[in-house]
Amino acid sequence: MSFLEIRGVGMRFGGLQALDDVSFRVERGSVVGLIGPNGSGKTTLMNVISGVYKPTAGSVTFADKTIANVPTHQVCRLGIARTFQIVKPFASLTVRENVAVGAMYGRDGAKRTTAQAFDHASELLEIVSLARVADRPASDLTIPDRKRLEVAKALALDPDVLLLDEVMAGLNASEVDEALALLRSLSERGVTLIVVEHLMKAIMAVSTTIVVLAEGKKIAEGAPLEVTQSRAVIEAYLGARYVKRQEAARAVADARAAEGAR
Ligand SMILES: Nc1ncnc2c1ncn2[C@@H]1O[C@H](COP(=O)(O)OP(=O)(O)O)[C@@H](O)[C@H]1O
Ligand SMILES: [Mg+2]
Repeated sequence: MSFLEIRGVGMRFGGLQALDDVSFRVERGSVVGLIGPNGSGKTTLMNVISGVYKPTAGSVTFADKTIANVPTHQVCRLGIARTFQIVKPFASLTVRENVAVGAMYGRDGAKRTTAQAFDHASELLEIVSLARVADRPASDLTIPDRKRLEVAKALALDPDVLLLDEVMAGLNASEVDEALALLRSLSERGVTLIVVEHLMKAIMAVSTTIVVLAEGKKIAEGAPLEVTQSRAVIEAYLGARYVKRQEAARAVADARAAEGAR
């Protein structure tokens, strides 16, 4: 039995099949990059894995337990935490208080006193580079800092698996580099990561395996380089017409080169 297994997952919203027979395994300690065009089902899959949605087909098993039948707060106690694409901190609480709340309710939360939860929150704010704004209200934060807070809040739940939904959106180049360094350090700490990100360069740099969704179906899975060379993936991103045009252009160029050589 693998660490985390997504098996034949389907998710239907009325007439829309948002996920269709999606299967893959996540090994402990890996970084899985989940990519695909807009609307391909990435966030929906994060919602299924974190127990927010009960899939209409298939199952997700983690540490020998079926997640579909477990309420969300218990999924988090099992060791899976997530960030949200739309960031919603408790605006009136300080940054540190926002994280401390997680540290009190996460897996190890019951073992922590309030003072310990605040200490743990301070440590996590160091890790995500937010110590400088720890005592400011969350509503004061810039977008990149809100994303960092989102990661700290999820880490406060002491997860084995962390699901990150577009935490790099809106970051500039140097902030993306910082975020990548953070993901690598989390991975080194033994946290298994499932990362949804639009920025190809970032996701290719950090992932050990890439899973590609298009229109709710898994169309490719493999090492980053392998996946970027897949015709199905290039088509999903650039369109079948683009791929055909490129192939035609290459055939013409090859024919000319062959003629020139003669
Ligand atoms: N709660 C919902 N109710 C109805 N349709 C939804 C819901 N959540 C997502 N969808 C639809 O499912 C499809 C996949 O959405 P989503 O998972 O958000 O894609 P992605 O994150 O890859 O951009 C979209 O067509 C979206 O409109
Ligand atoms: Mg999304």
